[in-house]
Amino acid sequence: MKPPSPRGLIERWREHLPVSDATPIVTLGEGDTPLVRAPALEDEIGGDHAIYVKFEGANPTGSFKDRGMTVALSKAMEEGSRGVICASTGNTSAAAAAYAGRAGIPCWVVLPAGKVALGKLAQAVVHGAQVVPVTGNFDAALELVRTVAREESLTLVNSVNPYRIEGQKTLAFEIVEAFGGAPTAHFLPVGNAGNITATWRGYREIVPNAEERPRLFGYQAAGAAPIVAGHPIENPETIATAIRIGNPASWEGAVNAATESGGAIAAVTDDEILSAYHLLASRVGIFCEPASAASVAGLRQRHARGELDLPAGSTIVCTLTGHGLKDPDRATHGVTVDDPIEPTLDAFRTRLESNA
Ligand code: F0G
Repeated sequence: MKPPSPRGLIERWREHLPVSDATPIVTLGEGDTPLVRAPALEDEIGGDHAIYVKFEGANPTGSFKDRGMTVALSKAMEEGSRGVICASTGNTSAAAAAYAGRAGIPCWVVLPAGKVALGKLAQAVVHGAQVVPVTGNFDAALELVRTVAREESLTLVNSVNPYRIEGQKTLAFEIVEAFGGAPTAHFLPVGNAGNITATWRGYREIVPNAEERPRLFGYQAAGAAPIVAGHPIENPETIATAIRIGNPASWEGAVNAATESGGAIAAVTDDEILSAYHLLASRVGIFCEPASAASVAGLRQRHARGELDLPAGSTIVCTLTGHGLKDPDRATHGVTVDDPIEPTLDAFRTRLESNA
């Protein structure tokens, strides 16, 4: 038998996933993303720790959502779905649009009007989804698609779909495989809270001994931190639009992950997020989107406050959830490019001297 082309994470982790020989596999070769050591962060944090970033922006549609979407769309096809629908701050819609296009079924995406980064909107459109902007935020959009999915018999592919969580747990499998064991601590951004729920499920499944599992630290944006506040936030605000969410669907899963693992759910400010975003791009070499940088911002904040209570020589992983190209407006915000020069050595030298 020829191997499937491409070989995605379902083939790799088949025995851990809810698929059978009857499941048509819808894959774009997702998963197996780079686990990149970050010396610039190690210098700052100290403690003899080994610090890595797991760059999920290297997935086919540029975010971690592909992990869940390959399983959600494969199961939707197995069940004879007539189409899929999701609410999204952008990345879920990009992934849903791509995988539905691949599967050959329609896709509707409901987005908070004016609050989705340009690259993500472009992806949904080009992959052929029906884009429906709504007034209000992500939470209102999610409530709407739950109703529409039920009334119109469409498959809901938000992370309330259990197959999404199943696919996303494979991130933990890859990390444990790479290290030959679990890291000490794992930092990640929290929005609708599906990812921290899935990551914890993955560690629980792949690391049998509870003592050896990592501590999970989830970070919300300060203006959109309902779990930290202990109540839903009606008007969440943050430059990290991907996690601009006031009432996470997997709230309980996030709290369980933090509590059971001995970690925490906390908040980072937009300034801390942007500082981490720039450090990652300029010193680590990874261009991620602002929401992704919340994980590293959280690690730096915990260190700066003297709250990083990890034994010396710990292994720390930060998930970087999406690619920087998703949000070109943020990347070029406040940036001016110099006037052009004549293409001559003299002109170039003059420019070098004036910039020295
Ligand atoms: N980082 C990025 C880049 C995201 O797009 C999201 C969620 C998160 C982090 C948070 O993950 O929701 O599982 O806690 N984006 C969703 C979307 C809400 O619609 O694309 P979570």
